[in-house]
Amino acid sequence: MNERATYIVMLGPPGAGKGTQAKVIAEELGLMHVSTGDLFRENLSRETELGKLAASYMNAGELVPDDVTIAMVEERLGREDCVKGAILDGFPRTPAQAEALDELLTRLGGKVDLVPFIKVPNEVLIERLSGRWMSRSGRVYHALYNPPKVKWLDDEDGSELYQRDDDKPETVAHRINVYYEQTSPLIDYYQKAGTLVEIDGTQDIEVVTKDLLKVAKA
Ligand code: AP5
Repeated sequence: MNERATYIVMLGPPGAGKGTQAKVIAEELGLMHVSTGDLFRENLSRETELGKLAASYMNAGELVPDDVTIAMVEERLGREDCVKGAILDGFPRTPAQAEALDELLTRLGGKVDLVPFIKVPNEVLIERLSGRWMSRSGRVYHALYNPPKVKWLDDEDGSELYQRDDDKPETVAHRINVYYEQTSPLIDYYQKAGTLVEIDGTQDIEVVTKDLLKVAKA
């Protein structure tokens, strides 16, 4: 018998640890990690029209328009590798995206099963984003909290790490404001749906992972 696909939405402000955790729990649960930020950055590195459009919003710390983002997610979740479900990281980010996701998952025969809300205070977010180092393939490090074995080099393939353009202090501050204005209403949306579970994101990375796996496997 075919089991229904599982969809988990990682919710939380920029720097809460959504990407760090989504990677680990996706592997552990055998689900795809679908990150809208990573998809936009991949498009940008391939210099597609979508990438160029997204960059103009991302570099300013603004959200990419809903219609473009929703169409990209719809295409991604429809692919064969998402047949068992996905961990959504960075999507939805507006009430319109949340409603579109509900409709899309209904069509795919699923629903949003769980929404871990990773809670972290603003001062910690700023410190995390200013020390974040990324690999081109999307692995996430931190200069102090999760350093690579060799400074500025990826543990897996030895390639050079970089800092994201939108991690500049002024852009970070704006991204946090955009989160409070446009994304935080989703806390209420998923609380009403009965899927929201609050996770203390200030703990060590491994402890947060343990808490997430506990609720995902419950
Ligand atoms: P996106 O890439 O999704 O960025 P974000 O949501 O702002 O989230 P971040 O990637 O900044 O943070 P995170 O929570 O994943 O934290 P991380 O694990 O890296 O989006 C970028 C842009 O794309 C947006 O601004 C927008 O323009 C556009 N976009 C994307 N999705 C969109 C959508 N749906 N609609 C419209 N536009 C969209 O961790 C951060 C750092 O902290 C790392 O260095 C990590 O090592 C460290 N860390 C993590 N956890 C811990 C811990 N527990 N203790 C200590 N350090 C930790």
